[in-house]
Amino acid sequence: MNQQLNFPFGVKLNGLGSSVPSQVVTNQDLEKIIDTNSDWIESRTGIKKRHICDSSLGEDSLSLSLEASLKALGDTPASEIDLIIVATSTPDYFYPSTACRLQSKLGATKAFAFDLSAACTGFVYALVTASQFIQLGTCSKVLVVGVDIHSKILDWTDRTTCILFGDGAGAALLERTSADKNELLSHKLHSDGHGGEDLSAKCVIGGYPLGKVEKSTESVHMNGRKIYQFAVKTIPESVSESANLAGLSVDQIDYLICHQANQRILDSVAEKMDWPREKCLSNIAKYGNTSAASIPLAWSEFANSIPSGSIISIAGFGAGLTWGSLIWKWNK
Ligand code: UT7
Repeated sequence: MNQQLNFPFGVKLNGLGSSVPSQVVTNQDLEKIIDTNSDWIESRTGIKKRHICDSSLGEDSLSLSLEASLKALGDTPASEIDLIIVATSTPDYFYPSTACRLQSKLGATKAFAFDLSAACTGFVYALVTASQFIQLGTCSKVLVVGVDIHSKILDWTDRTTCILFGDGAGAALLERTSADKNELLSHKLHSDGHGGEDLSAKCVIGGYPLGKVEKSTESVHMNGRKIYQFAVKTIPESVSESANLAGLSVDQIDYLICHQANQRILDSVAEKMDWPREKCLSNIAKYGNTSAASIPLAWSEFANSIPSGSIISIAGFGAGLTWGSLIWKWNK
């Protein structure tokens, strides 16, 4: 039974875009600043390099979001956008939101705009949220962005975390269509706050007692093994769950675009699903874990090679804990 049948409208994808900073940092570069080795990083994670923002070049969440958004918009005037949702955990400002700053840069004068925080699952949460606004008829064009600049909240002396992440942004333009042309076939999102301490970056530890502001954020803290186990358990379950809600079997899924955190996680998901490895699309070797940006970065990269009519599962997991997936009927 297709979960989406009762909405008055359908949602379709009308553009994708991505952006990464110009500075490339290889595993060999990291060997020069911390006690690690290139082979360990590549064999344990699949990562060969990542892009890291250079603030002296003006690279930040806004600049990456803007470039990705302009690519996703293509010929569509920004003035036609009704809503902008930016999924991020690493904004340039606590407020105003990245979404409002992006609205201003784009000249999307009629849009309302907000940020959404669901860590590495953020883009999946944002796609689902945007789709609800469209399918209910409240909005007809929604820009969804996933952006993270993890490099600014990493402890560059902690080799268990700093080697994993890269910076980037990705964007998707969603539009209203008729209910019979709906591309979002199902979705299911989850949270479990009890696991929050396994992956965290605490904000504002200064200010208490009054007047003693020493540091505004703590760097990323992660129990890597627990997050790994959480991912390889929940992603296969989640993909099966959303396939079921779409009235499909997992064998009918042509491709999985999963959050890119570790190649071994992607391979383990493929094994558990009894799929060939290639079904789980991967570009982690080039970008590392770009958090909320990883799914739109991969979707943009593989869009041209996915045949029209394919059934795609899009799945995320991350801090919160959060996880979830959706099924999308790909229409080039
Ligand atoms: O978006 C979600 C965010 N996070 C994730 O998805 C992370 C999920 N977890 C993982 O990907 C993996 O747990 C890691 C890649 C983080 C770690 O891989 P692991 O196979 O679980 O390694 P480990 O932490 O068990 O460490 C194994 C060994 C240790 O040495 P000893 O104690 O066996 O002598 C570590 O000290 O590897 C050592 N090690 C390193 N060696 C070189 C850990 N990090 C490094 C490093 N370079 N960067």
